[in-house]
Amino acid sequence: IPGHLEVKGNHLTIGGVDAVSLAETYGTPLYVTNEDRLRDNYRRFSAAFPGVSIFFAAKSNNNLVVQRIFAQEGAGADAFSDGEIYLARMAGIPAEKILFTGNSKTDAELQYAIDSGVMVSVDSRDELLALSKLAKKAKKEVKIAFRVNPDVSADAHPKLATGLKVSKFGIPTKDIVSIYKEAKKLPGVNPVGIHCHIGSQILETAPYTEATNKMMDLVEQISGFIDLEWVDLGGGFGIPYQKGTKVPTPKDWAKAILPTFKARCKKIGISPELHLEPGRYMVADSTVLLMRVNTVKKAYKNFVGTDAGFNTLIRPAMYDSYHEAVIANKAGSPAKGEYTVVGPICESGDILATDRQLPVVEKDDIVALLDAGAYGFCMSSQYVGRPRCAEVLVHNGKADLIRKRETFDDLLQNQIMPGRLL
Ligand code: LLP
Repeated sequence: IPGHLEVKGNHLTIGGVDAVSLAETYGTPLYVTNEDRLRDNYRRFSAAFPGVSIFFAAKSNNNLVVQRIFAQEGAGADAFSDGEIYLARMAGIPAEKILFTGNSKTDAELQYAIDSGVMVSVDSRDELLALSKLAKKAKKEVKIAFRVNPDVSADAHPKLATGLKVSKFGIPTKDIVSIYKEAKKLPGVNPVGIHCHIGSQILETAPYTEATNKMMDLVEQISGFIDLEWVDLGGGFGIPYQKGTKVPTPKDWAKAILPTFKARCKKIGISPELHLEPGRYMVADSTVLLMRVNTVKKAYKNFVGTDAGFNTLIRPAMYDSYHEAVIANKAGSPAKGEYTVVGPICESGDILATDRQLPVVEKDDIVALLDAGAYGFCMSSQYVGRPRCAEVLVHNGKADLIRKRETFDDLLQNQIMPGRLL
């Protein structure tokens, strides 16, 4: 049992609260987030990067309370849509500390960004022209960066690599100088930053050094005519989902980035800020997903059928991700057999944990999937007529409901029956 989780009286506890009693009180499936762990993660990371501004990648966890906690810690936000700008503002993150990073933005989204006063990371020339036109009309000036495709390969799952030459994100390095020149002449936009993001769940430090160098090559070329305020190297810092996975510490990441960044800035004779956009690192291990066992079936394998499937946590089905499974009401008991934990969705891919050694699993046990705080609830759906689940926050041995469980009413929400069919 890693980190802030403990076993007390054979039960799993999170933030000092008994996971089994949380499941009884709030029902299952249930996401349980430990506030202290969120704050510890933020502080550990930012302590390793003194002077660096942290823009929490809001896509990784869209709960307002989670973002509120990071706002209190001093974070900005990387918002990938107008909706994420809205949520970040509602959580109390100031507009000047929000970077709108989406690709393929609508004109309406750009207008929303202009009206909100946030910065924009521009992903294409079409977007640059649209933003300039809208900002000019609104008599505003928007601080912008360009998202660079740095062509760095990080050893991430193919669906999670974003900085490859073939990726849909960013502008090729060969076009960067000319697009900054063009932006400089356009009204309504003020190019002050440069941005990249090389991928997610990265477990090595070398790609960050490579990305820093490639970005600084570009910075060197544009700094003659651009007053650069900041360089944003994105997020992607991986976490050890599986026991024994070697993961760099924040200090290791910092060592891979800061000396190179500083040396190159000094050589060019500039002192821009450094921005980073961690999502997963901040939230993943703060949260467990609790689910109840409906059935244990001895078939081709021992299948444990729970009440959460890929409608609740899509990561295993979508990326073959590993999440540690613990029987919360038998957390101290030794493993007695091999089990595959599956959900209640009508697809064979609805598997949450494959071939795990667990204590004897029985109906009504509570399974906890660990490290479920990043890309968990926010990627959940109502597939197969299942209302989305609830979220609670634990702190000082107490729990607060921070998102209500949906009901059947939510399944009907926004659906319209034409009168002639009534
Ligand atoms: N910045 C940008 C521009 C991004 O697109 C992302 C993530 C981040 C920062 C944060 O990356 P992180 O530090 O969380 O790795 N749904 C997938 C992950 C998708 C990541 C998308 N972009 C998963 O469940 O693993």
